[in-house]
Amino acid sequence: MTQTDPGKTAEEKAQSRQETKQALKGFGRKKQNLIPILQKVQGRLGYLPREAMTEIAEYLNIPDIDVYGVVTFYNQFRLTPPGRHSVRVCLGTACHMKGGYITLDAWKRRLDINPGETTTDREFDMDTVACVGCCTKAPVTVVDNKPEGKVEPTRVDGILLAFEQEREVKDKEESESS
Ligand code: FES
Repeated sequence: MTQTDPGKTAEEKAQSRQETKQALKGFGRKKQNLIPILQKVQGRLGYLPREAMTEIAEYLNIPDIDVYGVVTFYNQFRLTPPGRHSVRVCLGTACHMKGGYITLDAWKRRLDINPGETTTDREFDMDTVACVGCCTKAPVTVVDNKPEGKVEPTRVDGILLAFEQEREVKDKEESESS
């Protein structure tokens, strides 16, 4: 099984296990319950860390690899923790035609992650999506559930700069109030 969350402390892992145990309550130990269990655990944790998958495998008495196989098969499941901000790059036909992959490359370079991953500071997670219904604004990136149109690489820089400035203001306010 690949490592899903190498930076986690032992305490955080123990907490994930505990949360998973709580989520398992009420489910029968049948393999058919695997998907609803995964959905419930992800609902609590925001993603499915390795220790949660191990806990689930033990509960259902199935190999870890079976759980991992299902998690990686379905798009709905995440192996990495969600970031504070989500970036979803549209690669539907219209966005693809208007340079969606160039936009994706720009996000990959600026955030230094691949689709399905989260930045090490957990500020951003990034993934690709199919058409989000705003094709006239292609290429589109959905940032924190808000579709942003005409997201060329320079616009990627602009969006990230706005987040950076927002964070600086927040940090300043926090340091002034403490
Ligand atoms: S293809 Fe990207 S919004 Fe439709």
